[in-house]
Amino acid sequence: MNFYDVLAKAKAGTNLSVSELQILLDAPDVNAEKELLAAGYAVKKEYCGNVVNLRGLIEFSNICSRDCFYCGIRKSMRTVSRYRMSMEEITAAARLAGEYGYGSVVLQSGERSDREFVDFVTGVLREIKKLPCQLGITLSCGEQTMDTYLRWREAGATRYLLRIESSNPEIFARIHPPECSFSERLEALVRLKAADYQVGTGVMTGLPGQSTADLAEDVKFFQEIDADMIGMGPYLPQEHTPLGQANPDAPGAAMKRLELTLRMIAVTRLLLRDVNIAATTALQAIDPAGGRERGIMAGANVIMPNVGDTGRRRDYQLYNGKPDLDENAPEVRLKLLESLAKIGEIPRFNEPGDPLHYQVRTRKNEKI
Ligand code: 5AD
Repeated sequence: MNFYDVLAKAKAGTNLSVSELQILLDAPDVNAEKELLAAGYAVKKEYCGNVVNLRGLIEFSNICSRDCFYCGIRKSMRTVSRYRMSMEEITAAARLAGEYGYGSVVLQSGERSDREFVDFVTGVLREIKKLPCQLGITLSCGEQTMDTYLRWREAGATRYLLRIESSNPEIFARIHPPECSFSERLEALVRLKAADYQVGTGVMTGLPGQSTADLAEDVKFFQEIDADMIGMGPYLPQEHTPLGQANPDAPGAAMKRLELTLRMIAVTRLLLRDVNIAATTALQAIDPAGGRERGIMAGANVIMPNVGDTGRRRDYQLYNGKPDLDENAPEVRLKLLESLAKIGEIPRFNEPGDPLHYQVRTRKNEKI
């Protein structure tokens, strides 16, 4: 089957096979690629309107017990100065997100599972819930036990982001140390579903040794686990990590990965339709002037502006080239609003912005 036949099927909402997804990801030329991204955006518009959901991102701690080979805050990174924001700092950032009308916050940190950390996060959730602005809360704190997931759910978190990073177990094993297991990651995703979270997952695109066949499998994986939210970003080598050192970038490689990520966003939107898809910071790292906006124009419907303090941002660099290092929350907000206006998209204010997919999946909303 050729590209345009598959694209027609995708536009009509037909379920696609892995090999068909791959044909789309391998768009044969620039025009085909343009049509693919436009088709992704058209489906986004049909399901979400020209509206973008905002989440205030709070990177509340970079202390991590994991040693993932690609990550700039991995445990053995000695040059990173470790921090944990205080309860007051985190609630102040959440309050700011509420005042800005972001409607929800994402609390992200390095991974820890000790008692003190679990209790701390539980306390933070309770405090944020007490704020006058009714914020949706997403957690992104890695693999945890069912007990912990349930406690955090009860304390007020409704969404959880846990990327599979690659659904190919061999690639997963190559980019993680042995104590980080693919099956354990899968089980954690199952636990999150069972604990009644809106579940987000995703992958890095352009990992060393990853093909478009692997990425097509990734999109199928999102469908199979029935994810509510997807976050994908280009892999960005971090020069002091084992993966970054073993695979230094050739010139132009980053831009290729950005384009590949845009095709992944479009293909994911075409297949999954009603999920939330984030235009991630890693896109902006490669194209500071328009990366996230290009993500929206390919089918994403969520942006996560940072509401944390610039003082801490330097110490939370998962990869090189993190944008907005010196821009505080008000500047980040202004730039974002301007750039959304430029592409004709309207920010959704003061609403948590639940993924339609979750509402349909749980039949909580009778009208849909
Ligand atoms: N390049 C791109 N993304 C990265 N992440 C971590 N390190 C990198 C990197 N070097 C992503 C992972 C993780 C998310 C929080 O950040 O996918 O799940």
